[in-house]
Amino acid sequence: MDIFSEIDQMQRQASILTRAGKTIGFVPTMGYLHEGHLSLIRRSRAENDITVVSIFVNPIQFGPNEDLDRYPRDIEGDIEKLRALNVDVLFLPSMKEMYPEGYKTYVIVEGLSDKLCGAFRPGHFRGVTTVVLKLFNIVKPTRAYFGLKDFQQTLIIKQMVRDLNMDIQIIACPTIREHDGLAMSSRNKYLTEEERQGAGIVYRALLNAAEKLKEGAGFKEAASTLRETLKSSPHIREIQYASVYDPETLDDLTDVDVKIYKKPEVVLAVALYYGNARLIDNLLVKLR
Ligand code: PAJ
Repeated sequence: MDIFSEIDQMQRQASILTRAGKTIGFVPTMGYLHEGHLSLIRRSRAENDITVVSIFVNPIQFGPNEDLDRYPRDIEGDIEKLRALNVDVLFLPSMKEMYPEGYKTYVIVEGLSDKLCGAFRPGHFRGVTTVVLKLFNIVKPTRAYFGLKDFQQTLIIKQMVRDLNMDIQIIACPTIREHDGLAMSSRNKYLTEEERQGAGIVYRALLNAAEKLKEGAGFKEAASTLRETLKSSPHIREIQYASVYDPETLDDLTDVDVKIYKKPEVVLAVALYYGNARLIDNLLVKLR
Protein backbone atom coordinates (compact mmCIF):
# COMPACT_ATOMS: atom_id res chain seq x y z
CA MET A 1 0.00 0.00 0.00
CA ASP A 2 1.33 3.43 -0.95
CA ILE A 3 0.92 6.11 1.69
CA PHE A 4 0.95 9.68 0.38
CA SER A 5 0.86 12.67 2.68
CA GLU A 6 1.48 15.28 -0.02
CA ILE A 7 -1.21 16.47 -2.40
CA ASP A 8 1.29 16.57 -5.28
CA GLN A 9 2.20 12.89 -4.93
CA MET A 10 -1.44 11.84 -4.72
CA GLN A 11 -2.47 13.92 -7.73
CA ARG A 12 0.42 12.66 -9.83
CA GLN A 13 -0.39 9.04 -9.00
CA ALA A 14 -4.09 9.62 -9.75
CA SER A 15 -3.22 11.11 -13.15
CA ILE A 16 -0.98 8.17 -14.06
CA LEU A 17 -3.69 5.68 -13.10
CA THR A 18 -6.40 7.58 -14.98
CA ARG A 19 -4.24 7.81 -18.10
CA ALA A 20 -3.63 4.05 -17.89
CA GLY A 21 -7.43 3.60 -18.06
CA LYS A 22 -7.80 2.42 -14.45
CA THR A 23 -10.99 3.11 -12.51
CA ILE A 24 -10.40 4.69 -9.09
CA GLY A 25 -12.74 4.01 -6.16
CA PHE A 26 -12.44 6.47 -3.28
CA VAL A 27 -13.48 6.20 0.37
CA PRO A 28 -12.97 9.43 2.35
CA THR A 29 -12.82 8.96 6.15
CA MET A 30 -11.71 10.62 9.38
CA GLY A 31 -10.06 7.38 10.54
CA TYR A 32 -10.51 5.25 13.66
CA LEU A 33 -11.81 2.72 11.18
CA HIS A 34 -14.61 0.28 12.01
CA GLU A 35 -16.70 -2.23 10.05
CA GLY A 36 -18.84 0.60 8.62
CA HIS A 37 -15.80 2.12 6.93
CA LEU A 38 -14.49 -1.29 5.92
CA SER A 39 -17.78 -2.17 4.19
CA LEU A 40 -17.36 0.88 1.95
CA ILE A 41 -13.77 -0.12 1.20
CA ARG A 42 -14.75 -3.69 0.30
CA ARG A 43 -17.41 -2.38 -2.06
CA SER A 44 -14.89 -0.07 -3.70
CA ARG A 45 -12.39 -2.93 -4.06
CA ALA A 46 -15.07 -5.04 -5.78
CA GLU A 47 -16.10 -2.32 -8.23
CA ASN A 48 -12.83 -0.57 -9.18
CA ASP A 49 -9.28 -1.33 -10.37
CA ILE A 50 -7.72 0.84 -7.66
CA THR A 51 -9.03 1.83 -4.22
CA VAL A 52 -7.88 5.00 -2.47
CA VAL A 53 -8.81 5.70 1.17
CA SER A 54 -8.20 9.05 2.82
CA ILE A 55 -7.84 9.67 6.54
CA PHE A 56 -8.12 13.32 7.52
CA VAL A 57 -9.82 14.75 10.60
CA ASN A 58 -11.14 17.84 8.89
CA PRO A 59 -10.99 20.78 11.33
CA ILE A 60 -13.37 23.02 9.37
CA GLN A 61 -16.35 20.68 9.83
CA PHE A 62 -16.11 20.88 13.64
CA GLY A 63 -17.73 23.72 15.60
CA PRO A 64 -15.73 25.66 18.24
CA ASN A 65 -17.27 23.64 21.11
CA GLU A 66 -17.20 20.27 19.39
CA ASP A 67 -14.92 17.25 19.71
CA LEU A 68 -12.08 18.05 17.24
CA ASP A 69 -9.43 17.78 19.98
CA ARG A 70 -10.64 14.51 21.40
CA TYR A 71 -11.80 12.86 18.15
CA PRO A 72 -10.50 9.26 18.45
CA ARG A 73 -7.39 8.39 16.43
CA ASP A 74 -5.45 5.16 15.83
CA ILE A 75 -3.38 5.58 12.71
CA GLU A 76 -1.28 2.43 13.23
CA GLY A 77 -4.37 0.27 13.72
CA ASP A 78 -6.03 1.90 10.70
CA ILE A 79 -3.03 1.19 8.45
CA GLU A 80 -3.10 -2.45 9.50
CA LYS A 81 -6.79 -2.73 8.61
CA LEU A 82 -6.24 -1.07 5.23
CA ARG A 83 -3.30 -3.38 4.43
CA ALA A 84 -5.42 -6.42 5.34
CA LEU A 85 -8.04 -5.28 2.80
CA ASN A 86 -5.40 -4.74 0.10
CA VAL A 87 -6.15 -1.06 -0.25
CA ASP A 88 -3.88 0.40 -2.94
CA VAL A 89 -3.34 3.93 -1.65
CA LEU A 90 -3.82 5.73 1.66
CA PHE A 91 -3.96 9.52 1.37
CA LEU A 92 -2.98 10.93 4.74
CA PRO A 93 -2.47 14.69 4.52
CA SER A 94 -1.63 17.07 7.36
CA MET A 95 -3.79 20.03 8.32
CA LYS A 96 -1.22 22.43 6.82
CA GLU A 97 -1.19 20.48 3.56
CA MET A 98 -4.98 20.80 3.17
CA TYR A 99 -5.39 24.32 4.57
CA PRO A 100 -2.15 26.28 4.12
CA GLU A 101 -1.93 29.83 5.37
CA GLY A 102 -4.07 32.11 3.25
CA TYR A 103 -6.69 29.46 2.47
CA LYS A 104 -9.93 31.23 1.42
CA THR A 105 -12.34 29.06 -0.58
CA TYR A 106 -15.46 27.23 0.64
CA VAL A 107 -18.33 25.49 -1.12
CA ILE A 108 -21.88 25.53 0.24
CA VAL A 109 -24.89 23.43 -0.78
CA GLU A 110 -27.70 25.78 0.20
CA GLY A 111 -30.91 24.72 1.92
CA LEU A 112 -30.12 21.05 2.61
CA SER A 113 -27.10 22.11 4.70
CA ASP A 114 -29.22 24.10 7.17
CA LYS A 115 -31.65 21.32 8.06
CA LEU A 116 -31.42 18.48 10.64
CA CYS A 117 -27.76 18.29 11.77
CA GLY A 118 -27.06 21.59 10.00
CA ALA A 119 -29.43 23.43 12.34
CA PHE A 120 -27.45 22.22 15.37
CA ARG A 121 -23.98 22.32 13.81
CA PRO A 122 -23.75 25.63 11.92
CA GLY A 123 -21.04 25.49 9.25
CA HIS A 124 -20.62 21.72 9.56
CA PHE A 125 -21.76 20.79 6.06
CA ARG A 126 -19.86 23.72 4.56
CA GLY A 127 -16.77 22.09 6.03
CA VAL A 128 -17.76 18.66 4.72
CA THR A 129 -18.54 19.77 1.15
CA THR A 130 -15.37 21.88 0.99
CA VAL A 131 -13.07 19.06 2.07
CA VAL A 132 -14.83 16.45 -0.07
CA LEU A 133 -14.56 18.68 -3.16
CA LYS A 134 -10.85 19.20 -2.44
CA LEU A 135 -10.33 15.46 -1.95
CA PHE A 136 -12.15 14.73 -5.22
CA ASN A 137 -9.81 17.12 -7.04
CA ILE A 138 -6.81 15.43 -5.45
CA VAL A 139 -7.82 11.76 -5.83
CA LYS A 140 -9.74 12.10 -9.15
CA PRO A 141 -12.05 9.17 -8.41
CA THR A 142 -14.34 7.37 -10.86
CA ARG A 143 -16.63 6.41 -7.97
CA ALA A 144 -16.81 7.60 -4.36
CA TYR A 145 -18.42 5.67 -1.51
CA PHE A 146 -20.48 7.18 1.33
CA GLY A 147 -22.49 5.60 4.15
CA LEU A 148 -26.23 6.03 4.58
CA LYS A 149 -25.52 6.24 8.32
CA ASP A 150 -24.80 9.88 7.46
CA PHE A 151 -27.91 10.19 5.31
CA GLN A 152 -27.89 13.99 5.13
CA GLN A 153 -24.17 14.12 4.30
CA THR A 154 -24.60 11.65 1.43
CA LEU A 155 -27.60 13.58 0.09
CA ILE A 156 -25.65 16.86 0.19
CA ILE A 157 -22.61 15.33 -1.56
CA LYS A 158 -24.86 13.97 -4.31
CA GLN A 159 -26.41 17.42 -4.75
CA MET A 160 -22.97 19.07 -4.94
CA VAL A 161 -21.74 16.60 -7.56
CA ARG A 162 -24.89 17.13 -9.65
CA ASP A 163 -24.87 20.93 -9.33
CA LEU A 164 -21.16 21.29 -10.14
CA ASN A 165 -21.24 18.71 -12.98
CA MET A 166 -18.51 16.62 -11.41
CA ASP A 167 -17.90 13.43 -13.37
CA ILE A 168 -17.96 11.17 -10.30
CA GLN A 169 -20.43 8.47 -9.36
CA ILE A 170 -21.58 8.70 -5.74
CA ILE A 171 -22.43 5.30 -4.26
CA ALA A 172 -24.57 5.24 -1.09
CA CYS A 173 -23.91 2.17 1.10
CA PRO A 174 -26.06 0.62 3.86
CA THR A 175 -25.49 1.28 7.57
CA ILE A 176 -23.47 -1.37 9.39
CA ARG A 177 -24.71 -2.06 12.93
CA GLU A 178 -23.57 -3.75 16.13
CA HIS A 179 -25.47 -6.85 17.31
CA ASP A 180 -27.97 -4.77 19.26
CA GLY A 181 -28.59 -2.47 16.31
CA LEU A 182 -26.40 0.46 17.38
CA ALA A 183 -25.01 2.05 14.20
CA MET A 184 -21.23 1.74 14.15
CA SER A 185 -19.48 5.06 14.63
CA SER A 186 -16.05 6.26 15.71
CA ARG A 187 -17.88 8.36 18.31
CA ASN A 188 -19.31 5.26 20.05
CA LYS A 189 -15.96 5.24 21.86
CA TYR A 190 -17.31 8.13 23.98
CA LEU A 191 -19.94 5.81 25.54
CA THR A 192 -19.24 4.32 28.97
CA GLU A 193 -19.76 0.57 29.24
CA GLU A 194 -23.12 1.09 30.92
CA GLU A 195 -24.24 3.57 28.28
CA ARG A 196 -23.10 1.22 25.52
CA GLN A 197 -25.33 -1.51 27.01
CA GLY A 198 -28.40 0.67 26.58
CA ALA A 199 -27.60 2.42 23.31
CA GLY A 200 -29.46 -0.15 21.18
CA ILE A 201 -32.58 1.84 22.12
CA VAL A 202 -31.86 4.30 19.31
CA TYR A 203 -32.31 1.67 16.61
CA ARG A 204 -35.24 0.07 18.44
CA ALA A 205 -36.98 3.45 18.51
CA LEU A 206 -36.51 3.74 14.73
CA LEU A 207 -37.87 0.22 14.23
CA ASN A 208 -40.90 0.93 16.45
CA ALA A 209 -41.74 4.05 14.45
CA ALA A 210 -41.24 2.20 11.15
CA GLU A 211 -43.60 -0.49 12.40
CA LYS A 212 -46.26 2.16 13.08
CA LEU A 213 -45.94 3.46 9.53
CA LYS A 214 -46.24 -0.07 8.12
CA GLU A 215 -49.44 -0.51 10.15
CA GLY A 216 -50.84 2.57 8.43
CA ALA A 217 -50.32 5.15 11.16
CA GLY A 218 -49.87 8.83 10.25
CA PHE A 219 -46.53 10.64 10.31
CA LYS A 220 -47.43 12.46 13.53
CA GLU A 221 -48.13 9.20 15.35
CA ALA A 222 -44.92 7.61 14.05
CA ALA A 223 -42.89 10.64 15.15
CA SER A 224 -44.36 10.49 18.66
CA THR A 225 -43.67 6.76 18.90
CA LEU A 226 -40.07 7.53 17.95
CA ARG A 227 -39.73 10.24 20.61
CA GLU A 228 -41.59 8.30 23.31
CA THR A 229 -39.36 5.24 22.87
CA LEU A 230 -36.24 7.43 23.08
CA LYS A 231 -37.50 9.19 26.19
CA SER A 232 -37.72 5.85 28.02
CA SER A 233 -33.90 5.77 28.16
CA PRO A 234 -32.30 7.42 31.23
CA HIS A 235 -29.06 8.09 29.32
CA ILE A 236 -30.54 10.33 26.65
CA ARG A 237 -29.70 13.87 27.71
CA GLU A 238 -30.95 15.85 24.74
CA ILE A 239 -32.91 14.93 21.64
CA GLN A 240 -31.87 17.40 18.93
CA TYR A 241 -34.28 16.06 16.35
CA ALA A 242 -36.34 12.92 15.92
CA SER A 243 -39.02 12.81 13.28
CA VAL A 244 -40.25 11.67 9.88
CA TYR A 245 -38.68 13.44 6.89
CA ASP A 246 -38.94 13.64 3.12
CA PRO A 247 -35.75 11.82 2.00
CA GLU A 248 -35.17 14.26 -0.89
CA THR A 249 -35.89 17.65 0.72
CA LEU A 250 -35.40 16.69 4.40
CA ASP A 251 -38.64 18.55 5.20
CA ASP A 252 -40.34 17.44 8.41
CA LEU A 253 -43.51 15.53 7.50
CA THR A 254 -45.16 15.60 10.95
CA ASP A 255 -47.99 17.83 9.76
CA VAL A 256 -48.39 16.22 6.35
CA ASP A 257 -51.25 13.79 5.72
CA VAL A 258 -49.89 10.38 4.66
CA LYS A 259 -52.66 10.21 2.05
CA ILE A 260 -51.42 13.28 0.17
CA TYR A 261 -47.73 12.30 0.39
CA LYS A 262 -46.92 10.80 -3.00
CA LYS A 263 -43.31 9.64 -2.65
CA PRO A 264 -42.61 5.94 -2.04
CA GLU A 265 -40.34 6.45 0.98
CA VAL A 266 -39.74 8.51 4.08
CA VAL A 267 -36.68 8.66 6.31
CA LEU A 268 -36.88 8.46 10.09
CA ALA A 269 -33.92 10.36 11.50
CA VAL A 270 -32.59 11.20 14.96
CA ALA A 271 -29.72 13.09 16.56
CA LEU A 272 -29.26 13.01 20.31
CA TYR A 273 -26.80 13.12 23.14
CA TYR A 274 -26.45 9.71 24.71
CA GLY A 275 -24.27 10.43 27.74
CA ASN A 276 -21.41 12.43 26.24
CA ALA A 277 -21.72 10.98 22.75
CA ARG A 278 -23.66 12.75 20.03
CA LEU A 279 -25.28 9.89 18.12
CA ILE A 280 -27.14 10.06 14.82
CA ASP A 281 -29.10 7.34 13.09
CA ASN A 282 -31.81 6.95 10.49
CA LEU A 283 -33.98 4.42 8.73
CA LEU A 284 -35.48 4.59 5.24
CA VAL A 285 -39.04 3.27 5.28
CA LYS A 286 -40.94 2.18 2.19
CA LEU A 287 -44.59 3.16 2.33
CA ARG A 288 -47.40 1.16 0.70
P1 PAJ B 1 -16.35 9.36 8.93
O1 PAJ B 1 -17.30 9.65 10.03
O2 PAJ B 1 -15.02 8.75 9.23
O3 PAJ B 1 -17.11 8.42 7.90
C1 PAJ B 1 -16.52 8.06 6.68
C2 PAJ B 1 -17.55 7.33 5.83
O4 PAJ B 1 -17.97 6.13 6.49
C3 PAJ B 1 -18.84 8.18 5.63
O5 PAJ B 1 -19.29 8.04 4.29
C4 PAJ B 1 -19.81 7.54 6.60
O6 PAJ B 1 -21.17 7.67 6.22
C5 PAJ B 1 -19.37 6.08 6.54
N1 PAJ B 1 -19.84 5.36 7.74
C6 PAJ B 1 -19.65 5.69 9.04
N2 PAJ B 1 -20.25 4.82 9.86
C7 PAJ B 1 -20.87 3.91 9.06
C8 PAJ B 1 -21.67 2.74 9.30
N3 PAJ B 1 -21.97 2.35 10.54
N4 PAJ B 1 -22.13 2.05 8.23
C9 PAJ B 1 -21.84 2.45 6.96
N5 PAJ B 1 -21.08 3.52 6.68
C10 PAJ B 1 -20.60 4.24 7.70
O7 PAJ B 1 -18.15 11.16 7.34
C11 PAJ B 1 -17.00 11.51 7.53
O8 PAJ B 1 -16.04 10.72 8.10
C12 PAJ B 1 -16.51 12.90 7.10
O9 PAJ B 1 -17.56 13.81 7.20
C13 PAJ B 1 -15.91 12.92 5.66
C14 PAJ B 1 -16.93 12.52 4.60
C15 PAJ B 1 -14.67 11.99 5.58
C16 PAJ B 1 -15.43 14.36 5.34
O10 PAJ B 1 -14.52 14.82 6.27
